[in-house]
Amino acid sequence: MTLPRPVESERGDEQERLLLRPMTIADLPAAMTIEEELFAPDTWTEAMLRDELRRTESRYYLVAQVNGVVVGYAGLVAYRDEGHVATLGVRNAFQSKGIGAGLLDALLVEADRRVPRVLLEVRADRPVPQRLYRSRGFTDIGRRPNYYPLSGTDAVVMARG
Ligand SMILES: CC(C)(COP(=O)(O)OP(=O)(O)OC[C@H]1O[C@@H](n2cnc3c(N)ncnc32)[C@H](O)[C@@H]1OP(=O)(O)O)[C@@H](O)C(=O)NCCC(=O)NCCS
Repeated sequence: MTLPRPVESERGDEQERLLLRPMTIADLPAAMTIEEELFAPDTWTEAMLRDELRRTESRYYLVAQVNGVVVGYAGLVAYRDEGHVATLGVRNAFQSKGIGAGLLDALLVEADRRVPRVLLEVRADRPVPQRLYRSRGFTDIGRRPNYYPLSGTDAVVMARG
């Protein structure tokens, strides 16, 4: 996949420097912190994420940094005919600042280059990401009961395109 140019901007009164850039192996500890904070008990393991980052032909993972600290990350899987938003998360203290939408939009730019359709699963009990996905053209196409086995949470399946 083509790697993005880092996108940098200064936002708000605090002049926070936001940078979106490709995720690397060096970001794994920060990503695991985000996993625990946002997704426990249904967290990915470091080994799973490391394996994702090795699959450079079909994966596109980005991190969001604020003032040099990784505060969010997101990943796209691009199969031949279909893409999949594999993950999207922004640390609690940095939410509602446009970072999640920025990460998603960057994934969708890459998806639009490569695939006609993008799918995703999102936790049924999380209205904020569902609204974000709908605002980017995703619609509900189904529900998977107990999709997240450790918590027993259902997933809503959404598609765009
Ligand atoms: C989903 C998530 C990534 C959004 O990140 P974010 O940086 O807070 O999102 P943004 O600031 O870009 O806001 C995106 C939209 O959500 C809305 N939003 C953000 N936080 C919100 C909140 N606490 N309550 C209500 N709406 C909220 C924003 O208003 C915005 O909508 P708008 O464009 O209509 O104004 C973040 O909430 C998150 O990490 N959640 C936990 C992990 C998760 O469930 N990920 C989805 C996995 S599939």
